[in-house]
Amino acid sequence: MRSHYCGDLNRAQIGQAVTLVGWVHRRRDHGGVIFIDLRDRGGLVQVVIDPDNPDTFRMAEQARSEYVVRIEGLVRPRPAGTENKDLATGEIEVLARALTILNTAETPPIHLAEHGPEPSEELRLRYRYIDLRRPEMQERLRVRSRITRTLRNFLDDHGFLDIETPILTKSTPEGARDYLVPSRTHPGEFFALPQSPQLFKQLLMMSGMDRYYQIARCFRDEDLRADRQPEFTQLDIEVSFMSEDELMGLMEEMIRVLFRDILGAELPNPLPRLTYAEAMRRFGSDRPDLRVPLELVDVADLMTGVDFKVFAGPAADPEGRVVALRLPQGAELSRKAIDDYGQFVAIYGAKGLAYIKVNDWAGQGREGLQSPILKFLPDSAVDGIMARTGAVDGDLIFFGADKAKVVNEAIGALRVKLGQDLGLMAEGWHPLWVVDFPMFEREGHTGRWTALHHPFTSPKEDQVDLLETNPGACLSRAYDMVLNGTEIGGGSIRIHREEVQRRVLKLLEISDDQAEDRFGFLLKALKYGCPPHGGLAFGLDRLVMLMTGASSIRDVMAFPKTQTAACLLTSAPSPVDQTQLNELALRIKLRP
Ligand code: AMO
Ligand code: AMP
Repeated sequence: MRSHYCGDLNRAQIGQAVTLVGWVHRRRDHGGVIFIDLRDRGGLVQVVIDPDNPDTFRMAEQARSEYVVRIEGLVRPRPAGTENKDLATGEIEVLARALTILNTAETPPIHLAEHGPEPSEELRLRYRYIDLRRPEMQERLRVRSRITRTLRNFLDDHGFLDIETPILTKSTPEGARDYLVPSRTHPGEFFALPQSPQLFKQLLMMSGMDRYYQIARCFRDEDLRADRQPEFTQLDIEVSFMSEDELMGLMEEMIRVLFRDILGAELPNPLPRLTYAEAMRRFGSDRPDLRVPLELVDVADLMTGVDFKVFAGPAADPEGRVVALRLPQGAELSRKAIDDYGQFVAIYGAKGLAYIKVNDWAGQGREGLQSPILKFLPDSAVDGIMARTGAVDGDLIFFGADKAKVVNEAIGALRVKLGQDLGLMAEGWHPLWVVDFPMFEREGHTGRWTALHHPFTSPKEDQVDLLETNPGACLSRAYDMVLNGTEIGGGSIRIHREEVQRRVLKLLEISDDQAEDRFGFLLKALKYGCPPHGGLAFGLDRLVMLMTGASSIRDVMAFPKTQTAACLLTSAPSPVDQTQLNELALRIKLRP
């Protein structure tokens, strides 16, 4: 039907006859001449309809926003002085010879041609097909498609096989709630949708596939955030006979190629690595945003025995932590701003946010400091804080004291918030690997051990015996890739010996019966010649979000769900009729 995409036209086609199809983005009547900005996937072009051509002119008069039209015309340069530098096609226009209205449109609920305020997200999701006509949405999906193509090409070039795994399956252990699907042929029984292809990709290694990848849909019923969706996509990968260094090397090369191809950006080679312990110590987070030039500094040893219980308590508690965070030039912050940051850290459970303003330490020493907690601190503690943080006049020092978990979350988040609010973020891409994760952490309320990654992750080879003697000290062979504060991927070398797998399950208090019931097939497969193997999965939506500068993964998915895991477009989830329930042997019991 068409000879060109609208957005592809430029000076090269001047003098050519073209046929275009698309949507009327905007129609303007200019004293006898009609201008139509015609839009398709390729962009916009200006079409001119001259009254000398009365049939075409009459058609053009009927055209409204979002009508679908076909235009035959001649490409010509725009008159001097009317070029539009903001538009790719801004040097030319198309003089219409014929215009056909292929379809009409009601007034769209989302105005595409106006530079007004963003439509509400509710409206955008309800009328997603119109929202997706917006050039920035089209661009994001176009970039997404180029990203997956580049990734596929890289993996294909490196001998990876693209293999699909089931969607109707059994619960997989990624730690979120499952989405369940009732079985009609097995009344009272359920499939679970996969939280990831984890167990199947391990089985594929046992099948000798050696290098597997899949662009895989994953389903997790968890609390949603800007970078979480109930249904999301992983680039899922597994290999046999590779050490973590070999696999991490290959994966970071893939990400470097991706950023070079799509964005023309060079990432560091090799990617820097931080241990989990160092990341927590310096940044309070296992996905540190390295763009923020602020670091946590431990000061517990300076606070043991001080007169201020808020600090002395956690300083003496083996599970406690007391940190200082120096904010250069922070002494300019108003009282209100400091109070607001106190409210901010409260979200993470912090009970307060002590601070010291460094007004004139150089001239007056202690007298030159301003702080509600100064009266509790002996000179030695004050001197220690100043020396260790390197604070100078004009700075502000924040403090967090509590259980280490609370301090890390609160002050780690404060660090990033300060970076954003005060414009301290460095430009560009700051990727890293986080390695040497602990195998286990204790669940807060029960005190039971849980796997930090998942139960199939291998302990460090020389630490297997810690499983029985000191599980808290046992490190795993897991690794996460972090980019500008977002975890974009994670994985591990897996356990490939049944005996070690059983010991891990025992520690996790998963009984033989439970293990048999939930993943007996995997345990059995470990007995029939399982190769050493490992892998990882990238969160594709997150990667695309970062690479397109979108602020939510919803903006890089064609049909995402709301924060309450509903689809406004189709109204899913929705009730089903009684016949379907009967077939599935289900009865609905609504909460009173
Ligand atoms: P993990 O659970 O860390 O590992 O997931 C891998 C990556 O997937 C992304 N991700 C999400 N993206 C959007 N919405 C979500 N709800 C969501 N949850 C996770 C993150 C994360 O880094 N089977 C293992 C991988 C492995 O060991 O090979 C797994 O799924 O970017
Ligand atoms: P208070 O004596 O409770 O008024 O606290 C004195 C100062 O310490 C205030 O600035 C509080 O915000 C701060 N503060 C209280 N609890 C903590 C805590 N757990 N960590 C850091 N600062 C705190």
